Amino acid sequence: MPRAGERAVSLPPHHMLNTFSDINVCAPMVRYSKLPFRALVARYDTHITTTPMMLATEFSRNQQARNADFSTNDEERGLFALVPQNRHTPVQIRGALVCQFAASAPTPLADAAELVSPYVDGIDLNCGCPQPWAYAEHIGSFLLRQPETVRDMIRAVKARLGEGYCVSVKIRVDAESHHTDTLVRNALHAGASYITIHGRTRHQASASHPVDLDAVRFAVDTANACGIQTARGTSPGDAWAYAEDGGGGGFAPCIVNGDIWTREDAIEYRAKTGARGAMSARGLLANPALFSGHTRTPKEAVGYFTERSIAWGLPVAHLQYVSSDALTTVGILRTCSRKASQAGQNPSTLILW
Ligand SMILES: Cc1cc2nc3c(=O)[nH]c(=O)nc-3n(C[C@H](O)[C@H](O)[C@H](O)COP(=O)(O)O)c2cc1C
Repeated sequence: MPRAGERAVSLPPHHMLNTFSDINVCAPMVRYSKLPFRALVARYDTHITTTPMMLATEFSRNQQARNADFSTNDEERGLFALVPQNRHTPVQIRGALVCQFAASAPTPLADAAELVSPYVDGIDLNCGCPQPWAYAEHIGSFLLRQPETVRDMIRAVKARLGEGYCVSVKIRVDAESHHTDTLVRNALHAGASYITIHGRTRHQASASHPVDLDAVRFAVDTANACGIQTARGTSPGDAWAYAEDGGGGGFAPCIVNGDIWTREDAIEYRAKTGARGAMSARGLLANPALFSGHTRTPKEAVGYFTERSIAWGLPVAHLQYVSSDALTTVGILRTCSRKASQAGQNPSTLILW
């Protein structure tokens, strides 16, 4: 918590990544990384959170889609005491929220980004969704071998929102590494503020393929080799001078993603790959407090999550996924049921959603 008279500072995600060496990130997860879940993980050392993937075309055209897909509030961003790499004392930093879109063309992405930009701290382009329907729609992992399209989409968002606005891409690695090289270079030269790298190819399922940290390291090295300083000269009004080169060499930061189940994994994977940030998806679903070093979901996390879900009018059923541990899951479902009843909602509807 900030001390009396001390103000928490908001930094765009790429500035956070550049300034602090141990940034933790909640992955975009369709159905799961919604407002209450993001608020929950932000209580446990998750500095940057990401919305589920939303379709840019629908979002930009349709008010109903916007209302259904996206909600936020003042409570969801965490408050963290972080030590910049070039200082010795912690500073109070407000967490950041990134909105992820799937798109195949510049204009719908720029339109959607413009609509959501006042409420978030960055826009992310999904270049990794491996599902056949997405590939057929020329979104997600289809873009892994379409570097010019990715370049044009990044440029369009930057042109619409300004050079300083944080725009990122989330990619998977490619079995033929020259494709990764081309994609990363195009994205950064087009103005991407940071790159998230999931260390699996589009053909590798998370359940059966371990993450390839060497492939992630290759992408990070490529990003560094570009020598582009994405934060320099674009600090927002209240960012300090050190935010522009806080130890990351000022180069475009990267985030490593895949198989992060514990805080130790996050520390190890950042060190092995040279990434500034570590992103978890399934790990956070199994234990939303993992980045704080908890080895299993704390009880108070369950209470907070169900209360907030109900208070903010969102379904709490995906709590079923919150723990892979049977006893914890039973406890979660009981709590859900009880809280839903107390709130005058039908627990079975909530739970079976
Ligand atoms: C339930 C679920 C939903 C996901 N939805 C998205 C999504 O909307 N956008 C995206 O880029 N990746 C999505 N992913 C992939 C994750 O962000 C992440 O890249 C992948 O699960 C690997 O990380 P992990 O090993 O920590 O799970 C999803 C993964 C899961 C398990």
